Amino acid sequence: MFKKVIRFVLVGLCSLSTVVVAAAQTKPVDAEGHPWWQHAVFYEIYPRSFADSNNDGIGDLNGIVSKLDYLKDLGVDAIWITPCFPSPQVDFGYDVSDYEAIDPMYGTTKDFDRMVSEGQRRNIWVILDFVVNHTSDQHKWFVDSKSSKTSEHRDWYIWRDGKAPGEPPNNWLSTFGLSAWKLDPKTNQYYYHYFYPEQPDLNWRNPAVEKAMLDVTRFWYKRGVAGFRLDAVDTLFEDPKLTDNPVLPGTDKFGRPNMEEKYDKKLPEVHDVMRKLRSAADEFGSVLIGETWTSNVSELKDYYGEHNDELQLPMDLMMTEFKGLSADQYRKHIAAVNAAGHWPVYVITNHDIVRSYTRYADGTHNDDIAKMMATLYLTLRGTAIMYYGEEIGMENNDPKSKDDVQDPIGKLGWPLEKGRDGERAPMQWNESQNAGFSKAKPWLPVPASYKAHNVASEMKDSNSVLSFYRQLLALRHKEPALLEGDFQLLNENDPNVLTYVRRYKDEAILVVLNMSASNQNVGLDLSPLGFAQPRLSVLLTSFHKPLPAMAAELPMEPYSAFIAKITK
Ligand code: GLC
Ligand code: CA
Repeated sequence: MFKKVIRFVLVGLCSLSTVVVAAAQTKPVDAEGHPWWQHAVFYEIYPRSFADSNNDGIGDLNGIVSKLDYLKDLGVDAIWITPCFPSPQVDFGYDVSDYEAIDPMYGTTKDFDRMVSEGQRRNIWVILDFVVNHTSDQHKWFVDSKSSKTSEHRDWYIWRDGKAPGEPPNNWLSTFGLSAWKLDPKTNQYYYHYFYPEQPDLNWRNPAVEKAMLDVTRFWYKRGVAGFRLDAVDTLFEDPKLTDNPVLPGTDKFGRPNMEEKYDKKLPEVHDVMRKLRSAADEFGSVLIGETWTSNVSELKDYYGEHNDELQLPMDLMMTEFKGLSADQYRKHIAAVNAAGHWPVYVITNHDIVRSYTRYADGTHNDDIAKMMATLYLTLRGTAIMYYGEEIGMENNDPKSKDDVQDPIGKLGWPLEKGRDGERAPMQWNESQNAGFSKAKPWLPVPASYKAHNVASEMKDSNSVLSFYRQLLALRHKEPALLEGDFQLLNENDPNVLTYVRRYKDEAILVVLNMSASNQNVGLDLSPLGFAQPRLSVLLTSFHKPLPAMAAELPMEPYSAFIAKITK
């Protein structure tokens, strides 16, 4: 096969500086008309685990403020903080007992205001997590609701009589346990909870609930919050007839019968609520990110809204469910997402799933794989959402015994289901005690790997995962083709290497990702793209060895990433 010789030119990266893309509050649209969130890099913070300012073993808002310079320098434009509202902490904040205050363990509303203004000073926006499906059973609405059948808030939740004495209204299951119904002896009725019994579902069919919840969003927008990540939107509505879900063969890891969640999930009414939340967000130029678990691109498409009037950023969580690394699987998925025409939001990890570092690790190339996967989702078209610690190659730290488990699902499902503590370990700041997270015993143990993977030592090592992320994020902010460019696949039949070009106006950037454990030589024919004698100016690679000055094919090391500018 005829192959052209490619010349590689090494471009110094030290000259790159992070270009501020997120606009100041007064100009939320950039010169080309893009809203601030479109090119922003979001960073998810689990506040209990990020930085502890008062040394009680639990992270807090002042801890976050103390790390804003680090985040700015890394290339973060917005932080999404998982729930920091008053909560009995059964589900570590996802059981909210007051939507309009800050839990004292995280700080005060004054601390909150300071975090917002310190963020704004650095062009870092604050996004809160809005738990829309349920409240805590300690929320005053539920306390009143359960007090009597005729209480003001009775219909704010979903109450029903049992089918027969001792039998719940139907066969629906809680995703965190057994029946989704709990009998309240006081009124002898059952209430519905898709998650823990301490998280009763709100009745969104009641207009008073809708109004109260929309008002919560306005309360925070007025305080300077730039948007919300909407929690568990799939489960907002249930079939009013309470039809039993179809039972499928087999049992799940909790030993429950498998079931098709036909009547308790993804009901069409969800979209009406998304539209209403969106109009409230639009009053303030704010953004809505969705926790949108979908099994295909068409389902995901629905969350943008038929008229682009629902979520601006429904998360594409589908890659988190891919098994292993296969260039073909990623290629097909990305192509399908692009064909759907919306602005993508690829996510590879979060506080509910095993960390990406651990999921992809092969024991030999762990850091290389982390860099390669970072390159993938930070060079694709779309908005990026990172998870704290991902940038330093943090791994999961699963509990060693049932007694150590904090997350209730880990206690319930042990040992098959160990819960989510592993992906919520304290951030690893340095080599000192407790990885510099706190002077007190942290609420979850720090993994032993903190000695090798922590911010301070990785800052000093130009080959670290952190140094790679910093360069990658700088490129992403600087190169218009990475921000705005279209997406063209190359070498579509290569089973090992994913190759694509991002192109915007006169600029073209080539990204090559070796998703295999062996060396691969990649032939690059760029003539179909109009480059007869292309020159590749290397912007960033994760290679261990220097590149030859010229080669017929691009030599890709195992699990490596290569980014270059293509010029004629
Ligand atoms: C979402 C959150 C998860 C929480 C659940 C219930 O899935 O991400 O952490 O447990 O909703 O609120
Ligand atoms: Ca603290």
